[in-house]
Amino acid sequence: MRKKIAAGNWKMNLDKESSIELAKQISEHPIPEGVHVILGTPYVYLSKALDICSTNPSVDVASQNCHQKESGAYTGEISIPMLDSLGLKYCIVGHSERRELFGESDQVIKEKIDALLNKNITPIFCCGEPLNIREDGSQNEYVSTQLDNSIFHLSSDQLEGIVIAYEPIWAIGTGKTASPEQAQDMHAFIRSLIEDKYGAETADKISILYGGSVKPANAKDLFSQQDVDGGLVGGASLKSESFIPIIEAFG
Ligand code: PGA
Repeated sequence: MRKKIAAGNWKMNLDKESSIELAKQISEHPIPEGVHVILGTPYVYLSKALDICSTNPSVDVASQNCHQKESGAYTGEISIPMLDSLGLKYCIVGHSERRELFGESDQVIKEKIDALLNKNITPIFCCGEPLNIREDGSQNEYVSTQLDNSIFHLSSDQLEGIVIAYEPIWAIGTGKTASPEQAQDMHAFIRSLIEDKYGAETADKISILYGGSVKPANAKDLFSQQDVDGGLVGGASLKSESFIPIIEAFG
């Protein structure tokens, strides 16, 4: 059975007080059975969020990034052993904003995934095409290359330890969501690639989340698609009033 996941990505938003308040509101909320909630908080709030969420086994915390090297002269960076020492269990990797604004390549993302798996931290691996690729119809090839370059070197045991988030870049923060059919088509395609390389059993164990303008109004339709196992939610995860209905949108 694949995990149903509602993951929030707070990005560079919220101050200390509002972060604490939001983490409390979510972790005090009764989470529907079988649903797992993950809060992707800024680094500075991870410790506090981990403390707050430790009261609810259905709520976990993720960092939004990590550095691939163990330690060293990388001013301003945060290593995976540091995250591990906090007890963190999830890390978002390869978000399109990291790729586009901070120049992260498929190769760097691959190194981060390997290093996270070494510490038993689950990478939430983001992939997805920009608008021009969607417009010329080559989104499958584009996403397939991202998977080839960053995760398809893993063993099946390792692959089963990751979560994939399909996030078409044209839908992120734009209010323009992929239709449930567009999301389903891509998720089914990703699962078929996994099945070709690793077999049906592995393909059926991996949660594939959709990200890009998920809101209370569209979450039900998206999450009811056969291969959509949840969402990675930016804007709508910043307030409990919009994130809780998304957590409750699984059929
Ligand atoms: P959005 O962001 O929900 O605000 O579109 C999603 C994401 O970037 O993960």
